[in-house]
Amino acid sequence: MQQIFEMIKTIAIEIGDLIINQEMGYTDDTNTTGDQQLKLDIACDLLIEKRLKETEIVKAIISEEKEGVIPCNQDGEFTVCYDPLDGSSIVDANLAVGSIFGIYKGEPKGESLVASAYIVFGPRIELVTIIRGEKPYRYRLVGSSWQQLGAMSIKDKGKLNASGGTQKYWYPKHKKFIYSLFDEGYRLRYSGGMVPDLHQILVKEGGLFSYPGTEDSSKGKLRMLFEVFPYALVFEAAGGYAIDENGKRLLELVPEHPHDKTPCFFGSNYEINRLKEAYGVL
Ligand code: AHG
Ligand code: MN
Ligand code: MN
Repeated sequence: MQQIFEMIKTIAIEIGDLIINQEMGYTDDTNTTGDQQLKLDIACDLLIEKRLKETEIVKAIISEEKEGVIPCNQDGEFTVCYDPLDGSSIVDANLAVGSIFGIYKGEPKGESLVASAYIVFGPRIELVTIIRGEKPYRYRLVGSSWQQLGAMSIKDKGKLNASGGTQKYWYPKHKKFIYSLFDEGYRLRYSGGMVPDLHQILVKEGGLFSYPGTEDSSKGKLRMLFEVFPYALVFEAAGGYAIDENGKRLLELVPEHPHDKTPCFFGSNYEINRLKEAYGVL
């Protein structure tokens, strides 16, 4: 696994450079989910594909920006599913964006996720890695070396509340629940990039991030293999919870297609219990 994490460190430095120097703007293409692709999405995708193909233990890759499975090394052990650039719609405003990696052994699904990693490109570049059964570790790039900032953990209750989706299309039970948290004193923290938004909840040791099913999109927006499962592993290992709208652990879900989505909720004990109560799935 360290071989993949070391390569992700290299990728982080290279994408950091692309974000600063690559020409912005859209291509004429859309990806499998129908999102319009930025030149930067494509450049990051190509870079990651090249680097993972050079990593001997990687058997295959699946990218958010492409359809299907791309074979890499015959003797490899792992399938890496990745979102090369999360937050394409906010990168023009110079907000923080990220890259997310799910490392699977066997058929990609929640249960076969053995490790994950994400990179945050904010004012500084940070990396979080997790191996199933261990704690998530946070690193920061200082000069050209990675400083370990320690293990991440979540307390019983936080102060932050971040919910995605267009409010006009939130189901009444979601709207009532989110507003009830604000009435309790929770603060809104939502940038529109799941990488910095979830990273903030982890760094502040609690809170809730929701991307619910909505009237215009019953499965929400976030994709299981590239976005949801990698964070579910981090949250659970940090002492938090990661569930769907039925109260089921996200890591128990099985996608039928690599690009399948699911409503998802990540948070600390208190907020997840309140959510289950509000959704009637306690
Ligand atoms: P991507 O840029 O890879 O398509 O994903 C962006 C995602 C995620 O980062 C964020 O939480 C969500 O889109 C924001 O969606 P809304 O604008 O609907 O809240
Ligand atoms: Mn994304
Ligand atoms: Mn993306």
